Amino acid sequence: MISNESSREQWGSKLGFILAAAGSAIGLGNIWKFPYVAGENGGAAFILIYLVCAAIIGLPVLIAEVLIGRTTNRNPVGAFKLLSGSKFWTAVGGMGVIAGFIILSYYAVIAGWSLGYIVEAIKGEFNNFPEPAQAGEHFNSLVGSLPWIIGYFALFMSLTMWFVLSGVQKGIEKGSKIMMPVLFILLIILMVRGLTLDGASEGLEFLLKPDWDHVNAQTVLIALGQAFFTLSLGMGAMLTYGSYMSKKDNLFTSGFQIVILDTAIALIAGIAIFTAVFATGLAPNVGPGLIFHTLPVVFLKMPGGYIFAIVFFILLTIAALTSAISLLEVITAYFVDEKRWSRKKAVYVFGTVTFLIGLPSALSFNVLSDFHLLGLNFFDLADYLSSNILLPLGGMLLSVFVGYVWGFDKALIELKRGAEKIFERYPLFIKLWQLFVKYFAPVLIFLVLLHSIGVF
Ligand code: TRP
Repeated sequence: MISNESSREQWGSKLGFILAAAGSAIGLGNIWKFPYVAGENGGAAFILIYLVCAAIIGLPVLIAEVLIGRTTNRNPVGAFKLLSGSKFWTAVGGMGVIAGFIILSYYAVIAGWSLGYIVEAIKGEFNNFPEPAQAGEHFNSLVGSLPWIIGYFALFMSLTMWFVLSGVQKGIEKGSKIMMPVLFILLIILMVRGLTLDGASEGLEFLLKPDWDHVNAQTVLIALGQAFFTLSLGMGAMLTYGSYMSKKDNLFTSGFQIVILDTAIALIAGIAIFTAVFATGLAPNVGPGLIFHTLPVVFLKMPGGYIFAIVFFILLTIAALTSAISLLEVITAYFVDEKRWSRKKAVYVFGTVTFLIGLPSALSFNVLSDFHLLGLNFFDLADYLSSNILLPLGGMLLSVFVGYVWGFDKALIELKRGAEKIFERYPLFIKLWQLFVKYFAPVLIFLVLLHSIGVF
């Protein structure tokens, strides 16, 4: 019997877990990153490769991660410690907590821009910048302003802290149950708006017609990296959410549902954005600036754009918020479980610490813009270190852990709880899961990692 199991919070329902986990997965990665990365890497060809990566690596690793959490009822550090008793594996959990600090510190900076853009949209500011180049300058002047960038960053962090402070059921679950349906509805409204614009079909074609000329080994690696980031894998966020899950719930199908929801949202966001971009005759392949430089101009040119702009940035902020909550929860769970801190103290202290760690990232767009380490500014460094190194490393070690250290027999006993029917009816799925976790995931992720650090 695990000592603190009885006093630990749990999700109120299976749906609560799925929405919270989907909330973690669905974020800037889906709405900001996926469309422009797909746009730059061959559209539909990239999407097909991404789907394969999500299915054969993302889903199996997600199931493995949630399973470790549900089995141990612990944060990443406590979970690895409990299952392995070894210092090395405990440190792997610790790496996840550190990755949580780093990701949240720069993620909340971009999320702050989204929050600030809600206000810009309401004020009708986009009217003053009718061309993409002007909108780009406007963006640069906003992120160049210290009160603007730091203010919205602080505001976003405070919102995140507020939800985590209220606890698993009353904060995270309740928040997700309200925010996720709102997000789905807003996004569908935007997709319908995009599809009904004149010239929308060009955007659809761009997104759905494969351009195989753009595809190479690099594309596969980018697709796998995207699958990791968008599914919140590799640092213990899904593990921590799994730790609040009931042993009676079917973890196997929940994993499928989360991956399907996350992928559907990325695709719908892509349709909403590219139909509008093409219908207004703007360039689709401008990279990371797509949302903050191009979209304000798109909204300006589109009927009803004033309202849709507000809707869009509210949607983006909600998506980022439910993801940021999951990152802060990992850190909080660690200090609550392992250090016996109160939730309140952990959230106040480490929310503030994350904000301080994030300051250099926020300053990378203004006073620290000339500061470079390894050729990257602080913001890019934080992104690179976490997304390209710590997450894949964490995911690879996690699959090695389940496949070889913890042992498949034990993992299967745990997986079977709540999923007895799947084991009976679809033994093939279970076999495939083993195959992917044991062989495909570690090897493929290892290749991505080598590529990230420039080995080939
Ligand atoms: N998945 C989120 C997104 O797509 C970001 C995120 C939340 C995340 N928690 C994470 C990424 C944990 C990696 C690890 O925006």
